Amino acid sequence: MALAPRPLWEREELRAVAGETLRPGGFELTDRAADYIGLVPGWRVLDIGAGLGATVARLRSRYGASAWGVEPSADQLERADRPQGLVRARGDRLPFKDGAFDALFCECVFSLFDDRPGGLAEFHRVLKPGGFLVLTDLCASGLSTSGPLSGGGASCADRAAPLDRTARMVRDGGFAVELLEDHSAHLRDLAARLAWTAEGIACGCGRGLGYFLMIAQKQGA
Ligand SMILES: C[S@@+](CC[C@H](N)C(=O)[O-])C[C@H]1O[C@@H](n2cnc3c(N)ncnc32)[C@H](O)[C@@H]1O
Repeated sequence: MALAPRPLWEREELRAVAGETLRPGGFELTDRAADYIGLVPGWRVLDIGAGLGATVARLRSRYGASAWGVEPSADQLERADRPQGLVRARGDRLPFKDGAFDALFCECVFSLFDDRPGGLAEFHRVLKPGGFLVLTDLCASGLSTSGPLSGGGASCADRAAPLDRTARMVRDGGFAVELLEDHSAHLRDLAARLAWTAEGIACGCGRGLGYFLMIAQKQGA
């Protein structure tokens, strides 16, 4: 039986092109979001699907946050140069108490969840009332139809949902969407840099995909 190919985020080619931030936009969108939500020293922040731990380290060093990250992949955790604050866990089963965090970051990960409404319920549970959810991810361009949530493949590109559907799901999950921005230029930039590697990796940008930043605030208790 043929082995499944390694996901892009576990491949050295992506790290060579993107550095420790395995996503379009790197720290630019992280900083945009941290500034928007008014992140100050001492806030308890969790990065969901933390990869190599780059955002956790950034939120600690630049913002003085008490930052933690969950990452289910043993491979990612082993390759992390700065593993401080990283815990092996999935984003839809968080090993933290109710109301433990002031903010959650989920960068280029949400489309990988099998049960997105279930994941949002978990995000809502671990946030304090009024806490912030920062979501950056791929989206399928165009408005949604009544079809399945995603193409069902293994990569972020295969699983991207139309943005209006994700926004509705976030609202239905008990959040108010405060900011929604298009950052597809970052996806095009990363795709172009990957295409120029020796292996010429195609990351799906030409297949009607975009990239967005969403900031939402927890409603209710
Ligand atoms: C594209 S990488 C992004 C990593 C990191 N957020 C970054 O931007 O550098 C996607 C990450 O999501 C993780 N992941 C996949 N399914 C997940 C899940 N259900 N819960 C949390 N993380 C998940 C993968 O292991 C991988 O590290």
